[in-house]
Amino acid sequence: MTQGWNARLDAWLQDRSLRDPQQLGRRIEVLDQLESALVHGLLPSSTHGEALLAELEAINQQLFQTLREDIRRGKGAGSLRAWAASLRSSDNGKGYGPLDALISGVLDLTEPSDAIELGPEMVFYQPTPARHIFDFIEQASPTQADVVMDLGAGLGHVTLLTAICTDARCVGIELQASYVASARQCGQALQVHNAQFFAQDVREADIAGGTVFYLYTPFTGGILRTVLDALRREAAGRVIRLCTLGPCTTVVAEEAWLKPAGACDAQRTVLFQSIPAD
Ligand SMILES: C[S@@+](CC[C@H](N)C(=O)[O-])C[C@H]1O[C@@H](n2cnc3c(N)ncnc32)[C@H](O)[C@@H]1O
Repeated sequence: MTQGWNARLDAWLQDRSLRDPQQLGRRIEVLDQLESALVHGLLPSSTHGEALLAELEAINQQLFQTLREDIRRGKGAGSLRAWAASLRSSDNGKGYGPLDALISGVLDLTEPSDAIELGPEMVFYQPTPARHIFDFIEQASPTQADVVMDLGAGLGHVTLLTAICTDARCVGIELQASYVASARQCGQALQVHNAQFFAQDVREADIAGGTVFYLYTPFTGGILRTVLDALRREAAGRVIRLCTLGPCTTVVAEEAWLKPAGACDAQRTVLFQSIPAD
């Protein structure tokens, strides 16, 4: 067993392409395997293994740093969209993948340890997998005229990436104050001036300015009903769009005042548009 791992380690040590910054997907695969082999003692007393781990991680950190600089210089949209296009193909379509590792490295968000216990019908924090965020950005293509609101924004991935990749004003509303503090800190560090975060219950938030709303199933039952009713009242005066992901899609698809742009598949982002009242 150990011999097989030693041969694998030798091959990685020789492989110059692993040091190519563009080969992030492969590097992440190798780092996962290497970490697991070291943790499970399959590469015993392997200073080479540990050195390779540190070397590959440093290359990734340098890449994240370059992307952070691009964002600060207002060049983040092109860079991140290019990475999303290249890493989506290596994505297995399930859960989280290399694109999430890239986004997590670039945003460098700290997940607070002091999350409060959520009330019934409120869904615990889980970030939208990055490929779905880029799907949402492509589907909705928000412009400078839009105000994008993520209702139940968590650490702010959707708000921050949409703000970086478009000219829209982006607003994240999240009940957990410590999550909002992390999101704000990230926005400030990356100088993302078109992203704002509010620590509030969505039911009490001012959603009057929103034109595009995003819901990664943040709540269910009566809370979802209350928020959908509030959105329907907004749609009485103007056309709004609503993007959903996960189980809430089935509920939203039943709303007669909304029309989906395509098939209502809960595994993907679905964009709805309000039907103007006569
Ligand atoms: C599934 S996570 C989605 C996070 C984020 N929208 C994303 O896609 O990355 C749901 C989030 O909604 C928040 N949440 C649940 N009920 C809420 C409420 N009534 N008002 C504001 N936020 C709420 C939770 O704290 C959690 O962070």
